[in-house]
Amino acid sequence: MEDPGLSEPHRGRRLIMECGGPLTKSCRLLLLLLLLLLLLPPHNYQGWALRQIPPTQVQEQDRGIQDPPAVHLSNGPGQEPVSIMTFNLSKITKSSSSFEFRTWDPEGVIFYGDTNPKDDWFMLGLRDGRPEIQMHNLWAQLTVGAGPRLDDGRWHQVEVKISGDSVLLWVDKEEVLHLRQVSGPLAKKPQPIMRIALGGLLFPASDLRLPLVPALDACLRRDNWLDQQAQISVSASTSLRNCSIESQPGAFFPSGTRAEFNLQDIPQPNAEPWAFSLDLELQLAAGSGHLLALGTPENTSWLSLHLQDQKVVLSHGSGPGLDLPLVLGLPLQLKLDVSRVLLSQGPNKKILALPPEDHGSLLNLWTHPQGRLFLGALPGEASSASFCLDGLWAQDQRLDMDRALSRSQDIWTHSCPQSPGNGTKTTH
Ligand SMILES: *[C@@H]1O[C@H](CO)[C@@H](O)[C@H](O)[C@H]1NC(C)=O
Ligand SMILES: *[C@@H]1O[C@H](CO)[C@@H](O)[C@H](O)[C@H]1NC(C)=O
Ligand SMILES: *[C@@H]1O[C@H](CO)[C@@H](O)[C@H](O)[C@H]1NC(C)=O
Ligand SMILES: *[C@@H]1O[C@H](CO)[C@@H](O)[C@H](O)[C@H]1NC(C)=O
Repeated sequence: MEDPGLSEPHRGRRLIMECGGPLTKSCRLLLLLLLLLLLLPPHNYQGWALRQIPPTQVQEQDRGIQDPPAVHLSNGPGQEPVSIMTFNLSKITKSSSSFEFRTWDPEGVIFYGDTNPKDDWFMLGLRDGRPEIQMHNLWAQLTVGAGPRLDDGRWHQVEVKISGDSVLLWVDKEEVLHLRQVSGPLAKKPQPIMRIALGGLLFPASDLRLPLVPALDACLRRDNWLDQQAQISVSASTSLRNCSIESQPGAFFPSGTRAEFNLQDIPQPNAEPWAFSLDLELQLAAGSGHLLALGTPENTSWLSLHLQDQKVVLSHGSGPGLDLPLVLGLPLQLKLDVSRVLLSQGPNKKILALPPEDHGSLLNLWTHPQGRLFLGALPGEASSASFCLDGLWAQDQRLDMDRALSRSQDIWTHSCPQSPGNGTKTTH
């Protein structure tokens, strides 16, 4: 394509050429005029004015500063990408991608790219809050972590660039990683189509060099992937969440949602004497219904904690319960042993004694193949409770909602709305 900024001087040169031979008086005058033209401010000179950013583009950028649309990277529990793009590599002239993202989630896939999922792929994700690149191609097979923690809920700018045989990673305008001798020319790939998947992989997570849980509770905006001109297709986004809601760290259960952990998969009870503890901190809570329960899918509430009339109520089976007033922001602790359950929050303590015939019944849950820890609404329960957990600990170890056996797709695994009102509805 001809650069419009160059067209006028070209015409000028042609004019001078037409003068020919030694410079005549009129030709010298023409040269002077041309020089004058070149020295004038650009807006008086159409060829140069064309180089300036068209006004519509400027407006778009201005609007972008106020309210850039953002897309949520999670697609529910399926861990599938929220969007897939394809590019024709023989048309690619720009081999960098950039975006801004925001998350409280320390682990997951930001994007994956390949020309072939067997022997030519790339992944940028987070592990322990820091960027991690995994790649596998003809030139390099590697896993490398670099840069600062990014799981602080703030927007961060990220750029990934292929330059010669290098891959560069920039975070917040700083180069944090320069991998040399890891890439060949994009246009020379044997398979000329590159796929880019956002928020997920295009192969099982176990095929990564170092597996991680792909689901990432994060928002992405101002994204630019490779070369727009070379883009062949883009799938409709299957994102479930709206990123316009300000978030804080935690795990949010909109009413009616549930997560289930297999008791075998979480930290095990102490053996002698038998004891088990659960700690949780509620940041937001509204409505009534279950917060958590220990049981099996058939008998869900061997032990349960539910929310009712601004109280948290602990009960065993269908027996009478005991309660504590609902207090937000203070850890709530359940300590279980063979004969009783201690519920405490700050200075408040209550003891639920198990009937003698049920002594040891809780132990059996751990040997039951279907022993579960339920969070949120129980199967079949019409619960109106919605809540944000600042954290949940079993035996003093934090549980990660991404590692649940199953969970409702509307659960926010690593964030909570800042107030209950505007987070309880998810937009589809
Ligand atoms: C990719 O681009 C090349 C060059 O323009 C073209 O010949 C080829 O058909 C394109 N392939 C696809 C799959 O679009
Ligand atoms: C997200 O929510 C905001 C406010 O709640 C609303 O104005 C906006 O249209 C929603 N966006 C999408 C994409 O649903
Ligand atoms: C959420 O609710 C709070 C208080 O109700 C309000 O100030 C805030 O603007 C709301 N945010 C959104 C994104 O709707
Ligand atoms: C369910 O568990 C509770 C608590 O152990 C027990 O009292 C009740 O009998 C059990 N129900 C069934 C159907 O097993």
